[in-house]
Amino acid sequence: MTDPRSWQSETALLGNADPSDPTGWFERLWASARDGDVTMPWDRDEPHPALATWAGAPSSGTASGTAVVVGCGLGADAEHLSRLGYETTAFDISPTAVAAARDRNPGSSVTYAVGDLLDLPRAWVGAFDLVVEIYTVQAVNRSVRDGLTAGVRSLVAPGGTLLAVQAIAEEGDDDGPPWPLTRAEIEAFGTDGLSAVSIEQLPAPGTPNRPGIWRAEFRRA
Ligand SMILES: C[S@@+](CC[C@H](N)C(=O)[O-])C[C@H]1O[C@@H](n2cnc3c(N)ncnc32)[C@H](O)[C@@H]1O
Repeated sequence: MTDPRSWQSETALLGNADPSDPTGWFERLWASARDGDVTMPWDRDEPHPALATWAGAPSSGTASGTAVVVGCGLGADAEHLSRLGYETTAFDISPTAVAAARDRNPGSSVTYAVGDLLDLPRAWVGAFDLVVEIYTVQAVNRSVRDGLTAGVRSLVAPGGTLLAVQAIAEEGDDDGPPWPLTRAEIEAFGTDGLSAVSIEQLPAPGTPNRPGIWRAEFRRA
C-alpha cells in the first residue's frame, strides 16, 4: 500500500515543487514512469483501505448512481466503485496516467478521462452522487489548494456524498510534495452547501508512527 508521503524523493527529481506551474510535474512524472526512468508512482491494484472499509464489499454490486474518482492514477479505486455498482467516471490531469489506467483495466466499465480539477468540464459540475478524492489535493502545491478543494466540492450532486482521504499535516510539513492537510483544510470540503458527516483520523497504511490520514465524509443537502 502506498504511504501517502513515500514518493517525495522521486518527485523531487522532477522539479515538481515549482509554485508557478503547480500541476505540470504530474505528466512529466507519469511519462518518466512509462518510459522506465522512475518507479511507477502510486502503484496499487487494490482500493485504498480507507475507501474499501468505508464503501463495503466489492461482491455486493448493489450500489446505484454515479461516482467520480478525482486524480484517479492507475484506477484501482474507480474499478472498485464500478464493481460495487456505480456508474463510474475517473479522471486525471495526466494523459499518460489515463492511458495507463485504461491499459491496466481492459474491458473496464469505468469512463476514464483526462481532466483538470482546476478547470472542470461544465457537464461534471453537480453531476455525481459519490465523489472520491484520495491524495490529489495534498499532492499539489498549497498555492492552489483553495481552488482544488472548491473543484472537488463542485462535483457533488444535490443529495450526494464526498469522501476525502488525505494525509494529516504535522509541524514542519511545508517541504512538499506532499503537503498534508490541517484540520481546517479538511473541514474546508464541508462548505458551499456541503456539511460534514464524519471526520476520522486513521493510521496511515504501512506507517503506524506517522500522524496518519484523514477520512472525511461530507453530504450536500
Ligand atoms: C498522489 S497521486 C494519487 C493518485 C490516486 N488518487 C491514488 O490514491 O493512488 C495524485 C494524482 O492526482 C493527479 N492530479 C494532480 N493534479 C490534478 C488536477 N488538477 N486535476 C486532476 N488530477 C490531478 C496526478 O496526476 C496524480 O495521478
